[in-house]
Amino acid sequence: MAPIWFQGRQAETLRLAGYLSDPGIRLVTVTGPGGIGKTATVCRLLKGLEAGRIPGTDDVATVTVGGIVYLSRNGVHKVEYPTLVADLLRLLPAEQASRLDRLYQNPQHSPAAMMLALLEAFPAGEPVVVLLDNLESVMDTERETPAEPALREALSAVLTGPAHAITMIATTRVTPTALLGVEPARQRQLRLTEGLDPPDARIVLRELDDDGRLGLRNAPDDFLEGLCRHTRGNPRALEAVKAILEGDETLTPATCWTVPASCPGTRSSRSWSARPTSCLTARHSGSCRACRFSPRRSRQSGSTSCSVRSTRPPTPPPS
Ligand SMILES: Nc1ncnc2c1ncn2[C@@H]1O[C@H](COP(=O)(O)OP(=O)(O)OP(=O)(O)O)[C@@H](O)[C@H]1O
Ligand SMILES: [Mg+2]
Repeated sequence: MAPIWFQGRQAETLRLAGYLSDPGIRLVTVTGPGGIGKTATVCRLLKGLEAGRIPGTDDVATVTVGGIVYLSRNGVHKVEYPTLVADLLRLLPAEQASRLDRLYQNPQHSPAAMMLALLEAFPAGEPVVVLLDNLESVMDTERETPAEPALREALSAVLTGPAHAITMIATTRVTPTALLGVEPARQRQLRLTEGLDPPDARIVLRELDDDGRLGLRNAPDDFLEGLCRHTRGNPRALEAVKAILEGDETLTPATCWTVPASCPGTRSSRSWSARPTSCLTARHSGSCRACRFSPRRSRQSGSTSCSVRSTRPPTPPPS
């Protein structure tokens, strides 16, 4: 689910909507590092399309969807073959679904044959979208393809079978190279590698501080500048800033990016988005003693004024 303060990604959203409206495209792979916003961008679009709108524009959607199946690592509906079949069957009239279910129960039918029969039940028309979220979690990373043979067969059948209405969107940190080699003309890749632009990242930072308690909401732009640069606008890293400020009252927006060298790897947005709170918790519970900050920011007043005393020369903001 995308947050209500979702910012940017207009071009990517329009590209995705365009892919969904193209009956020749059967798989869209959205790749990018963790926390960059792959799931949020896709889910926001799908939710908008359900309501007949492309989010972020005033346009009534020119693409409507006939159904959506969400499969994800974290949800109840996992990215696996049995769930894929079961959730597609749910979109069909009861009689047709139970006929196909009998086929599914018959071990003589391979996943590819089953999938082709299922695809026939979704004749070309309004796209039925299947989201495979965090495909990398079910991938054989060496072979760069889904590890479950049945899922692999099913996805290949979607790509190679006769015309049908199903469009798959896979979000993944790891490019499924082997899968991309199957009917490449029927696939598109959307790379989400960059974080949010600084103006958008600043809005997100302010919105994350809904009551102004963390000193982000009303901070001047240049106070937030270092945070935007240090996180490279990675939305999950921006959320980590909020978690960090919430976890340590001695920090302010102007100082919290000063992460000491004794927290390995914390000087990249990747690590901020990957494990921000664990490191910062360790740091502020005393394992990182490089910096001391004073005086405390007043949470009540929301004041951001403070000075930094450091046991080592302060790290300058990145230029
Ligand atoms: N454009 C945006 N504006 C504001 N918040 C965003 C934006 N994009 C993502 N977010 C928020 O940032 C967090 C990370 O986004 P998301 O989960 O979509 O990343 P991801 O690329 O799918 O990561 P992962 O690889 O771990 O699945 C989420 O809480 C999401 O709501
Ligand atoms: Mg995701």
